[in-house]
Amino acid sequence: MIRQAIIPLAGLGTRLLPLTSVFAKELLPMNGKAGIEYILDECIDAGIKEVVFIISKKKMIKDYFYKDSFYKRIIKKKKDKRIINEYRKILKYKKMIKFVYQNKPLGTGDAVLKTKKFIKDKYFLMLLPDDLIVKNNCSKDMINISMKNKCSVMASMKVKKNNVSRWGIYSLSKRLNRNNFFIKDVIEKPTIKSAPSTNAVIGRYILPKKIFSKLKNLKPGKGGEIHITDAIKKLINEGDKFIGHKFRGKYLDCGSMSGYIKSGIEISKL
Ligand code: UTP
Repeated sequence: MIRQAIIPLAGLGTRLLPLTSVFAKELLPMNGKAGIEYILDECIDAGIKEVVFIISKKKMIKDYFYKDSFYKRIIKKKKDKRIINEYRKILKYKKMIKFVYQNKPLGTGDAVLKTKKFIKDKYFLMLLPDDLIVKNNCSKDMINISMKNKCSVMASMKVKKNNVSRWGIYSLSKRLNRNNFFIKDVIEKPTIKSAPSTNAVIGRYILPKKIFSKLKNLKPGKGGEIHITDAIKKLINEGDKFIGHKFRGKYLDCGSMSGYIKSGIEISKL
C-alpha cells in the first residue's frame, strides 16, 4: 500500500503576487474552500493516512490547522453547527499532517529531501498543490497503477508546444496500455527546440524512497534550483521504471493569477 504523501508548500508564489505577499497561496479560497483542502480530500479518498507538509518560515499554513483554542472559544459562545463541522474537518486534517521546514526555497528537489526521515515505505505520493485535478481522483488511480506494476508513476498531460518550457517534458518508450506508458527520459523546462515531445509531467507523482539518495547529491539545475525532475531523470537513466499516466479528470492550474481565477470559476460549476 501507499500510505504516505508529501506536499511541498515552501515556494514563494510570485505568480500570485500581491496576494502571496501576505497569504500562503494554498490557503486562498477556491469557491469558498482553501485550495489545500481539495488536495487533502484527494489524499484521504486515495487511502493516504499521513501527509507531510514542507513549509517555509511563514507560519500561516500551520496556524490554519492549529487554532483549537480559538475554535473552542467561538463554539462555546455561538454553538453554531456550521462552525462545529468546520472545526471537526480541520481536526481530521490535523491528525494526519506532519510538518517539516524548508527555510530557503532552493527548489522542489530540496523540498522533497527534507521529508527523508518521515518516509517509511518503498513508494510515496507527492502532490503539487498548484495543480488541481477535479472530477476524478488522479492519486487513487496512480496508486493502483504503481502497486500493480511495482514502479513509479507520474501524471501526464499534453501541453501546447510553445508552453513546453514551463514544464518537465518526457519522451516515451513502451506503451503499456491506452493511458499508461513507460518513460524513456525526462527534461526540466526544455526550450521548444530541445523538448523531446509535448508530454508534460503534472503535479502528481508516485516516487520511490530511493530518490532521496539521488537528491542528496543533486546540483542546482535550470534557474539555479534543485529540481525533483533531475533526480527522476537520474533514476530513469539507471534503469528505474517510471510510468507516465494520462489522467482522467480535469486539470486546473492554480499557480498563476489567470489560472487561479479560472479554476475558482470551474470549481464553482462542479
Ligand atoms: P513552483 O516553483 O511551481 O511555484 O513550485 P512557487 O515557487 O510556489 O511559485 P512561483 O513560481 O514563484 O509563482 C511548485 C510547488 O513546489 C513548492 C511550491 O510551494 C509549490 O507548491 N516549492 C517550490 C517548495 O516547496 N520549495 C521550493 O523551493 C520550491
